[in-house]
Amino acid sequence: MNRFFITIILSGVVIGLFILKQSSPLSAQKVCCIEVKENRIIIGHTEIFGVLQRPRVLFDHGLHEKAMKNEGCNSCHHADTDGNLVFEHIFSFMPDGKNAVKEAYHSKCISCHTERFRAGKSFGAITCGECHDKKRALREPSLPVFVFDYYYHDKHVTKLENKCDLCHHSYDKNDKELIYEEGTEQSCYYCHDLNAKRGPFLVSEIEVTKNKNLTMKKVSHNLCVNCHLRSSESDE
Ligand code: HEC
Ligand code: HEC
Ligand code: HEC
Ligand code: HEC
Ligand code: HEC
Ligand code: HEC
Repeated sequence: MNRFFITIILSGVVIGLFILKQSSPLSAQKVCCIEVKENRIIIGHTEIFGVLQRPRVLFDHGLHEKAMKNEGCNSCHHADTDGNLVFEHIFSFMPDGKNAVKEAYHSKCISCHTERFRAGKSFGAITCGECHDKKRALREPSLPVFVFDYYYHDKHVTKLENKCDLCHHSYDKNDKELIYEEGTEQSCYYCHDLNAKRGPFLVSEIEVTKNKNLTMKKVSHNLCVNCHLRSSESDE
């Protein structure tokens, strides 16, 4: 399996930043491929709650990104010990148990809305039905999807001055750590596509990625989005 394409769901604004910063006609033509009008996700953890008592919650991520532009992504996403923002959920750890998860979302979402209301700033839903809305619950998520092809690979390699190790690694089984050896760059899917069937070669690597649930989605968000956020900070 030699799949070069990597399809990644990224935050619209982060990508948008880079599109806006590009001024050459060449990159302007590229804008078409990754432009997405909406960025809304569904929060409905049936794997935790079973059958939901209330309609699932449609969360307009794009709207929140805009509204919290000055405060930044870290007004909701916390950083790990390496200083990278964690995106898979908005808590420093995923609480255990139905009630705890419900309380955690309610306290995180509603407290920001009420605090902003009190401070006279723009604010969001406070009553049950505004979030648990039957009509909104019927809508499907809509996300910017981006294909990282040879063109973008090349662009990154140039921009990042051939530092392949910023993205590529292999795993040292003895020292149990990531290493980089020039000339051995391989597809991320070999180790981070947790559902694919594999031959005998990468058994120990996949054991680790499976244990830590390092899916393509998770590692891509971790690596790609955090570097973009850092680059956009240092450019400002
Ligand atoms: C600001 C938005 C918001 C408001 C306001 C809100 N909730 Fe929620 N609620 C959520 C989110 C997000 C979850 C997590 C849903 C999930 O993970 O599936 C949740 C989870 C729940 C759950 C557990 C999941 C389920 O449906 O069984 C219940 C029950 C619930 N809320 C009831 C209420 C009630 C009752 C109110 C009003 C007193 C309320 N909520 C107000 C956002 C909100
Ligand atoms: C107002 C709160 C808020 C802000 C601000 C915010 N996010 Fe999010 N983000 C969320 C929520 C809620 C989720 C869904 C995760 C969950 O249910 O806990 C999410 C999910 C994501 C995901 C998808 C994660 C996954 O595994 O599906 C990415 C990527 C992401 N956010 C990036 C960003 C970036 C980049 C910024 C800043 C430009 C940002 N977010 C700003 C609340 C926010
Ligand atoms: C850090 C602050 C903050 C957090 C955390 C936050 N919100 Fe909001 N929310 C806002 C602001 C600000 C607005 C108003 C945006 C606007 O109208 O420009 C808003 C608006 C909304 C709206 C109404 C707009 C719409 O149609 O989507 C809903 C619904 C909502 N938020 C749900 C949620 C849910 C669910 C969560 C938790 C998963 C959440 N919010 C967490 C700041 C926050
Ligand atoms: C910005 C991150 C990034 C940088 C920097 C980078 N790569 Fe990649 N590379 C990727 C991604 C993502 C893929 C696609 C992987 C996939 O499809 O699984 C890839 C794919 C590859 C592949 C194809 C692997 C296969 O089996 O299909 C090779 C070879 C490769 N890169 C070599 C390099 C070399 C050599 C450098 C340095 C000159 C480099 N890369 C720099 C992210 C990067
Ligand atoms: C040979 C197998 C292998 C390949 C190929 C591989 N990885 Fe990994 N990767 C791992 C293992 C194993 C870990 C976990 C290491 C640990 O935590 O001890 C990891 C960890 C990561 C992490 C850190 C995740 C976290 O949250 O801690 C990121 C980010 C990542 N990989 C991205 C990539 C990207 C992007 C590519 C392709 C350019 C790639 N990996 C290719 C095996 C691989
Ligand atoms: C180590 C830092 C770094 C990593 C990791 C990284 N990027 Fe980038 N990315 C950049 C920089 C810097 C730019 C701006 C490039 C330029 O100005 O030419 C960029 C630009 C982009 C753009 C906009 C390009 C354009 O021409 O409009 C996209 C899309 C993108 N990256 C996707 C990704 C994806 C997907 C990944 C993960 C596989 C990734 N990036 C990983 C640094 C990084």
